[in-house]
Amino acid sequence: MTTLFDPIQLGAIKASNRIIMAPMTRARATKDHIPTPMMIKYYGQRATAGLIISEGTGISQEGLGFPYAPGIWNKEQVNAWKPITQAVHKEGGKIICQLWHMGRTVHPLFYPIPISASATTAPGYAHTYEGKKPYMQAKALPKEEIPRLLKDYARAANHAMDAGFDGVQIHAANGYLIDEFLRDSSNFRQDEYGGSIENRIRLLIEITKIVCHSIGSDRTAVRLSPNERVQGVFDNNAQLLFIAASQALSKENINFLEVREPQIGHQNNYVEKDLTDADFYPAIFPSMRENFKGNFVINGTYDGQSAQKIVKTGQADAVSFGRPYISNPDLVTKIKIGKPFVSHDQSIWYTQNEKGYTDF
Ligand SMILES: Cc1cc2nc3c(=O)[nH]c(=O)nc-3n(C[C@H](O)[C@H](O)[C@H](O)COP(=O)(O)O)c2cc1C
Repeated sequence: MTTLFDPIQLGAIKASNRIIMAPMTRARATKDHIPTPMMIKYYGQRATAGLIISEGTGISQEGLGFPYAPGIWNKEQVNAWKPITQAVHKEGGKIICQLWHMGRTVHPLFYPIPISASATTAPGYAHTYEGKKPYMQAKALPKEEIPRLLKDYARAANHAMDAGFDGVQIHAANGYLIDEFLRDSSNFRQDEYGGSIENRIRLLIEITKIVCHSIGSDRTAVRLSPNERVQGVFDNNAQLLFIAASQALSKENINFLEVREPQIGHQNNYVEKDLTDADFYPAIFPSMRENFKGNFVINGTYDGQSAQKIVKTGQADAVSFGRPYISNPDLVTKIKIGKPFVSHDQSIWYTQNEKGYTDF
């Protein structure tokens, strides 16, 4: 019987347990998107996780519109990541870099004309250095620019390896660029990147292929979030769409697929957004698992007990924890001895200081 404390081979990465730290934007980099020394301590403190997935990290300025979030498109950023990956390795941990392109949720205050699958506008407001601003309409990414976008992903993946990461995760979840291409609520293209499901998953697969080619499929992971109406992005047939995506990713031999889907009955637990149960479909992850032959990581609203259960029953190979890792750097020990998690307060998610970051 498998437990959360059994090691797991994730492609080229040997994780010492099945408790993974989920990617979390914490806004502690500089205005130029360069990682800062306090991030060394933060990630080092959490190195007992079997694997850390870094916060969303911009592949380019075009793709990064979150204040004080880190990037990985230039040398200065790469150099500033090095002591962070070293700190995790020194503590015996593993860390991969989440490659982020925010698509239409990049506000023009960060990059003049944001891109998306089609000319659409995200609902709501962007965090900017000048406070909250309504999102602006994106331009449809011209087909001729797709090779350039793929190169941006390849450069970021190579930079991640230069920075000492153990691999990367392609962020294809949560209503950002790749998710905007996947779903029929935001993709109205007439070319071979829009229309049928096969066409809408094309960009995801092309990005996966180029990243695998750059750094190895055994160091490339992907994150999807099938079951959410997030940042205005949803799909009229999410079940079929995400089964097709899982089958296509399976052929690429990626090291794991991470799926963010809240547990039934816990959907409202997403405190970062105002979602109701009506915004969710029945669970989609079981059919994704069936259609994906590699390692399957589940995320969303898990605690120690529910995580133990899902790994024990074989519905997932590992579980990633987001919010619990904010205030419990020793989460692995807490789960092992059954100690309650320390709670945290949302007001410290994105402040630029050490309070609520490295003082737990
Ligand atoms: C403060 C915060 C920042 C987040 N940033 C990211 C991110 O950069 N990339 C990402 O894929 N998900 C991000 N998420 C989502 C988490 O990875 C995770 O999917 C979500 O919190 C649900 O898991 P949990 O119930 O264990 O917290 C973020 C969540 C929180 C709370």
